[in-house]
Amino acid sequence: WTLITSLVVITLGCADAYNIESPNTLCFPEHFSFGVATAAYQIEGAWNVSGKGESIWDRYTHDKPERIFSRQNGDVTTDSYHLYKDDVSMLVQLGVQHYRFSISWPRILPSGLSNEVNEDGIRYYLELLTELNNHGITPIVTMYHWDLPQALQDLGGWTNPTIADYFVDYARVLFDNFGSRAKTWLTFNEPMSFCHDGYGGNDAPGARSSGFEDYMCAHHVLRAHGMVYRMYRDEYADKIDYVGITLDFSWLEPATTSEDDQKAAEIARQFYMGWYAHPIFSKTGDYPPIMRERVDAISKLQHFPRSRLPRFTPEEVKMIRGSADFLGLNHYTTYLISKNKGKISLLPSFEEDMGGIISQKKEWPKSNSTWLKVVPWGFRKSLNWVRLEYDNPKVFITENGMSLERGLKDSRRINYLDGYLKSLLMAMAKDKCRVYGYTYWSLLDNFEWTRGFSERFGLYDVDYESPNKTRTPRSSAHYFKELAQTRCIPA
Ligand code: NOJ
Repeated sequence: WTLITSLVVITLGCADAYNIESPNTLCFPEHFSFGVATAAYQIEGAWNVSGKGESIWDRYTHDKPERIFSRQNGDVTTDSYHLYKDDVSMLVQLGVQHYRFSISWPRILPSGLSNEVNEDGIRYYLELLTELNNHGITPIVTMYHWDLPQALQDLGGWTNPTIADYFVDYARVLFDNFGSRAKTWLTFNEPMSFCHDGYGGNDAPGARSSGFEDYMCAHHVLRAHGMVYRMYRDEYADKIDYVGITLDFSWLEPATTSEDDQKAAEIARQFYMGWYAHPIFSKTGDYPPIMRERVDAISKLQHFPRSRLPRFTPEEVKMIRGSADFLGLNHYTTYLISKNKGKISLLPSFEEDMGGIISQKKEWPKSNSTWLKVVPWGFRKSLNWVRLEYDNPKVFITENGMSLERGLKDSRRINYLDGYLKSLLMAMAKDKCRVYGYTYWSLLDNFEWTRGFSERFGLYDVDYESPNKTRTPRSSAHYFKELAQTRCIPA
């Protein structure tokens, strides 16, 4: 019933809103914040410099280079550990209001233990924060953008329940050292990606999943997030202004108008987005009911004595429910979902539990990433789904962007921005979605995980061959500058 009701609400409530018309203004509100994002492993380099410990991405790219495009790694990448002042000058040139970056956990706590702090790591981020503060750029800091200390992976990483305690210790070190200069924090970046692709897919640590690990990872990430949020509210509320979490919300559109596909698409949304968002942003403090129902039932069919989807204790439910001041939303693309009409396999997996088949339309314009097709209207639909599903929470767009091949004249990126920004503006102006900022991924080209340096998302081109990793603005950087300064979509 819940499912049917929510489907009805979505179709009725938004039928009109989804009817894309041209917006009557191309400008964002006065205090809307524009910025760009990066992440530590993707830009810092200096992987074993100044006391930094090994991360799971260091280990993975070094031990399994065959899994990475052209056997590349993030050992040096854009060398932002040494060149961060160049990055800040680019932010100044762009005139952005905020900069989202992440802290490398093993640079701060090389062994994962909070009584062994690497002072050089602290110094580096203090300098970066000072530089940003001096230029009036608001930092938005991600605590975890996928580079777990290898020492903690050796204990089982995110599948070990004690990881949540290590994360709380780490967060305390961050709040204590950086809290006076950084007021807005994100606990995690895209747990769906690192749990699902790290435990069962191609990302670090490259662990195989037997149909349990990704659920365990998610469970402990949600506990860790809730614990850090409560710690901030109880002990750091005078120092820190906002704590949120970044989740990835691709839009999942039914492949056809058939009832089966409509239903499959909504189930897929609950599995992909609701998995992390529902416990935090719904009133229940738990996984989406349809997810619980399906995984419990399928586990039974597979003869497991208990469901593969873990349960929160009543105390955890209370702790996790409402544990975010805002939702950090990453959105890049849209997928089509059709119902998987095959039999349920005895091989336990998230995909089987979800039960939908994923595809994209061939005619959708391409990027340089196989998964990223240009579908601007999906952005507005994602935002509206969030609005209806979670009672219109405060949203901050923490990533949106497009990869292309090398080149300074990137009119296709400008078209992407134009389309997605208009879609966002309509979600705000016409549908009343509460969005406070927009962040482009990425400031500059960088190490795109298993795709190495082959996919370039930057407003700035990076010449990896040059000794000082020369950064050059693309046409899109000029476009973005106008956007950030006028808060209007350039004509
Ligand atoms: C999301 C991730 O947060 C980021 O690290 C990645 O580079 C972009 N998507 C592009 O794939």
